[in-house]
Amino acid sequence: MCQPAMREASLTEQENSAEAELDEILDGLSRPQKTLSPKFFYDARGSILFDAICELPEYYLTRTELSIMQMTIDEITTLVGPQASLIEFGSGSSLKTRMLLEKLDRLAAYVPVDISREHLLSAAESLAADYPAVEVLPLLADFMQPFELPNPNVMPLRNIVYFPGSTIGNYSPEQAHSLLQVMHVEAGKDGALLIGVDLQKDTAIIERAYNDKAGVTAEFNLNMLSRINHDFGANFDLNLFRHSAIYNDEYGRVELNLISECEQTVLIGGRSIHFDTGEALLTEHSHKYTLEQFSGMADRAGFVVHKVWTDPEQLFSIQYCLRV
Ligand code: AVJ
Repeated sequence: MCQPAMREASLTEQENSAEAELDEILDGLSRPQKTLSPKFFYDARGSILFDAICELPEYYLTRTELSIMQMTIDEITTLVGPQASLIEFGSGSSLKTRMLLEKLDRLAAYVPVDISREHLLSAAESLAADYPAVEVLPLLADFMQPFELPNPNVMPLRNIVYFPGSTIGNYSPEQAHSLLQVMHVEAGKDGALLIGVDLQKDTAIIERAYNDKAGVTAEFNLNMLSRINHDFGANFDLNLFRHSAIYNDEYGRVELNLISECEQTVLIGGRSIHFDTGEALLTEHSHKYTLEQFSGMADRAGFVVHKVWTDPEQLFSIQYCLRV
């Protein structure tokens, strides 16, 4: 149930409809390069598998980001100052978000923004229960487009946009640019962006992170097909596809694909989708940036990277960007 600190009224009208999602899936499967958006990974089982990925020895991202946060939380708190509004692009009840809710000085509000009502409300309710001093104002919206922020009871002194986990890596450089522009709008005057960005590094380290020994990432990738079977009435045979994750040096990104093991036809939404033997279905890009590349991208969107923290091995970065 809703905590008293949460206003259902702050949930806007925007929501993803099942028909629109089916159209998107059919559109992706009709292209020469078959594609499904990584957002379709995250049904209940996909979210559990992703949590398991974050615990894998090979998956350095989550662990490293958390350790950087632990090292720098006092510095972040000082930079943010008192009575800010924390606007998270995406919702989760991650340890990193909890650390900010606990340590930031007298937060005016915490505004998680997500297109999934379920994720948004469960995360917001759990955080509102655990941090009763913070006004939690969940916002149901697609954060690729500018949205109107709710008005907290306490007037925020500045907005801090928070985007952890290197989720920025899922977007192409063009999409990432327009996302940063939305963040620039939402940060507003005197606002800032706190973002987790995975860094370019030795290919072997990256490929290991997406091809774990236990096969959890493979299961996570294949789960997208069972999710689409279940939610959209398709008939993908999971035994006829295999996981692939390869680092593309030219584009600086990991490419996750599901490879068809044979020639086959899949039925979905009254349509037949044909796969050749060895044909790839793209499920995710995970871009890795150099510090220079990210700072250039921030600049172009009207931010200046004020402070970058990395781990000793420079695997991952947390960046504090000021709105200019
Ligand atoms: C959630 C986008 C950061 O790209 O590393 C992990 C998702 N996919 N293993 C990533 C993911 C496969 C993850 N992000």
